[in-house]
Amino acid sequence: MKNIIDGEELNIPEHVAIIMDGNGRWAKKRLMPRNFGHKAGAKVVEQICEDAHNLGIKYLTVYAFSTENWRRSVEEVTGIMNLLRAYLKDCIERASKNNMRVRVIGDRTALDKDIVEKIEELEAKTACYDGLNFTIALNYGGRDELRRAVLDIAKDVKSGELTPDDIDEKLISSRLDTKDMPDPDLLIRTSGELRLSNYLIWQLAYTEFYFTDVLWPDFDINELKDAIRYFNGRERRYGGVK
Ligand code: IPE
Ligand code: IPE
Ligand code: MG
Repeated sequence: MKNIIDGEELNIPEHVAIIMDGNGRWAKKRLMPRNFGHKAGAKVVEQICEDAHNLGIKYLTVYAFSTENWRRSVEEVTGIMNLLRAYLKDCIERASKNNMRVRVIGDRTALDKDIVEKIEELEAKTACYDGLNFTIALNYGGRDELRRAVLDIAKDVKSGELTPDDIDEKLISSRLDTKDMPDPDLLIRTSGELRLSNYLIWQLAYTEFYFTDVLWPDFDINELKDAIRYFNGRERRYGGVK
């Protein structure tokens, strides 16, 4: 899809994935605890959902908590989970106002029961909306997602439902948490780190990467527009020649 952004006609990536990084450093710069940064970061997510939709992006997938983030202090993890509770509660209202469909990817089995219930409610109540497809990666790790998919397929092979020859890329994709979504066209990582940190490792195979030094709580629509402009300067070849 094309859209006019600040007078320029641009291709809008259908699916944008974001690694929202730098909340802790943002808080530290203000001599505040890390969770102050997470709170500011959560506010920015709300705004970016609206901006993404207005710009014509169809899918937005954000990394909220990785399978490795449990290594942080109990205080920080508890703070993030409490923030998430409040966020999920508000999100139901916001989603219906903005016609936004919300999904959560990652391993839910390690999350508290009340959080899982809120996620299920949010997914069920927003399943009918056809605005932005907003996905939150929570207790998500790309390797863990592949592990779960392999386990799933292995069980079907064992029971005879599948044969080893049935295992192609399409089948693997269909067993991932992202089965209903196209692969991301553009990945954005804030805070100057140039790594994937176990995010969507299968799905990002042909995605364009945009890195910015801006810390996540400072990210705004102008940053998002910059990323889209960068995306428009890339030539996607998918292994071919143009
Ligand atoms: C990203 O910000 C949010 C989460 C991982 C939950 P960080 O908390 O990683 O912030 P920095 O990288 O320490 O600044
Ligand atoms: C990645 O950020 C995870 C999220 C943004 C949720 P991290 O801050 O956890 O990643 P590393 O530790 O710098 O690789
Ligand atoms: Mg970080």
